Parts: sequence; C-alpha cells; structure tokens
Amino acid sequence: MLENKAKLLLKRLRYLIQRWVVAPLQPKSFRDEYQFFTQIKSMAYDDTAYKEALLRSRSHQVDKVLTFENFVARNGMLPGIKELLQEVLESQDHDDATVNWCRQVLAEYQERATGSRPVETTFDLLYDAESRRMLKSIIENRRSIRSFTQQPILKEDINEILASGLWAPTGCNRQMINYLVLDDKEDMKFCQKMAGETYPFPSEAPICVVILVDPRVYALPGHRHMAYLETGAAVQNMLLTARVLGIGGCWLFWQDAAPKHSEFLSRFKLQPWLLPVALVCFGYPAAVPKFPPYRKALSKCVYYPGK
Ligand SMILES: Cc1cc2nc3c(=O)[nH]c(=O)nc-3n(C[C@H](O)[C@H](O)[C@H](O)COP(=O)(O)O)c2cc1C
Repeated sequence: MLENKAKLLLKRLRYLIQRWVVAPLQPKSFRDEYQFFTQIKSMAYDDTAYKEALLRSRSHQVDKVLTFENFVARNGMLPGIKELLQEVLESQDHDDATVNWCRQVLAEYQERATGSRPVETTFDLLYDAESRRMLKSIIENRRSIRSFTQQPILKEDINEILASGLWAPTGCNRQMINYLVLDDKEDMKFCQKMAGETYPFPSEAPICVVILVDPRVYALPGHRHMAYLETGAAVQNMLLTARVLGIGGCWLFWQDAAPKHSEFLSRFKLQPWLLPVALVCFGYPAAVPKFPPYRKALSKCVYYPGK
C-alpha cells in the first residue's frame, strides 16, 4: 500500500519535472509536440472512433493470449473480461468489423477457457517458393518516384492502396490511422510546403495522401512514438501495393509533426487531435531513378551479442 503510494508520488514528480523543467528547455518543435500531447491527454472523449479504439485494444488483450498454451493458468482470468463482453453485446453504434472481431475473440476465449478447443498450430495459407521470390522482388524493386505522368489513378486502385495501409500492424490493434486524400493542386501545394518539402514534385502527382494519426490513445509519454511507427508500417504497405499496381509513390517526411499547424487543420476542417505524420504522393512514373540506391551489406548492420 505504502509502496504503491510512493510509486504514484514518484510518477507525479517525474511528470512535473518533465512538464515544467525538461519540456521548456527543449527546442520549439519538441515543445509543440509535448504541448500537443499534453493537451489531447487532458481532454475527455466520447466519440465512436475513440470508443472503438479502446474496445479493440481491450479485446486485443484477450486475443493476445489465445495462442498461449494453458493461457488461463498462465494469465489468470483477464481482468475486465465480463465488462468487455457486456460492452460488446450492448454496442449498437460501433462499426461491425470491430464488434464482430471482439465477439469472435470473446467467444473463443470462453470456449478455450473451458479447455474445449486446442491451439491452432499452422498457418492456413502456405506460400510457395515462387511467392517468396515475388515478395523479394516487389520489396527490392520499389523505388521512390518523384516524376509523374498526369494519367489519373482509378478510384478502385487508390482504395486498394489505402486499404493495404490499414492492414499494417498497429499498437494493441488500436488502428488509429486516417487519410486525407487530395487531388486539388492548390491543396497538394499547400501540404507539400507544410510538410517541408522544397521541391514541387508532390503537387505534380495526380494524388497526395496525408497520413493522419489519431494519437489520443497514445498520449502517455512512453507511447507517443507508436503514432509515428504505425504510420511507417502503413506507408510501406501502401508503397508496395502501389508498386504491384504499376503506380509509383514517394514518402515525404512531415517535418515538425506536432500540429502547430492550425492552418492545416482548419483548411481541411479536421478534428484538433489529428496529427499529420507523412505525405505520400502517388502517380504513374514519368521517370524512374537510373541507379537504384543499393542497400548496405547485411553483415554491416547486424550485431550478435558476444561475438
Ligand atoms: C521517413 C522517410 C522520410 C522521407 N522523406 C522524404 C522527403 O521528404 N522527400 C523525398 O524526396 N524523399 C523522402 N523519402 C524517400 C527517401 O529519400 C528514399 O526512400 C531513399 O532515398 C531510398 O530510395 P528508395 O525509396 O528508392 O529505395 C523519405 C523516406 C522515408 C522513409
């Protein structure tokens, strides 16, 4: 009891030092970021997107243990599972995909908790040597493309690219990626400048996508970088999917991601918590780099402890 109180006190003390001593000493962009996350952390949320993220992350805590042998013995009954079940059963206003998944996970948990189902031990889809060669080829033949024809991209292809980003892993399955899809030249120019790219090529592409993260669930200091990591995983999926469709793309870093960009948010009428983290332009290539930037040898970047 006393130990818990001391821990809580220490945590508060660390927070106060961070807030009033460390943060003000940081360069401006870090201060902006700190302020942004502090603000979103202190707000209360009642919207569906936020509730669904919580629902997914709580179900994830259940889903996560399902492939462990003797998971009940190892983890005990997961705290809050009854409440979660109740919430899922009562949820009317959540999207079907989230609720259906939560229902499946909870049903599996209940069945497994009584020991009635064995753990699955194989992937149901096995890939052959040709698939392996193709995957390697797609990864290695993706290039950053910075010169585009004006051939429009089919809506169906854009959707395929965007959807592939959503299949990237996300922290605790929270799925906080959002997209702002632009095809207006002025909007694209505006975003290219906001992102900090000095060359005009993004606005010369048929479309640009701003990856926005909803980081409300990542407001704790140790979790914040998840927002950036998830964006990276999504963008890589999108670029690979585009490559397979014959579409080129370039990933642009959104400098100083913290939204001091009130102009950006108000131009596109976005909610205040959405954080622009990357800009990706897509189009059919008018030119491709002559010399692919070869990668370092594996032996130069692998460490094995003790060797
Ligand atoms: C996080 C990140 C930020 C990037 N930012 C920019 C950028 O602002 N402008 C740009 O032209 N390329 C940008 N790139 C693309 C890189 O320059 C490119 O991936 C790298 O030179 C390797 O070339 P490749 O993608 O053709 O393999 C970025 C890539 C990453 C992963």
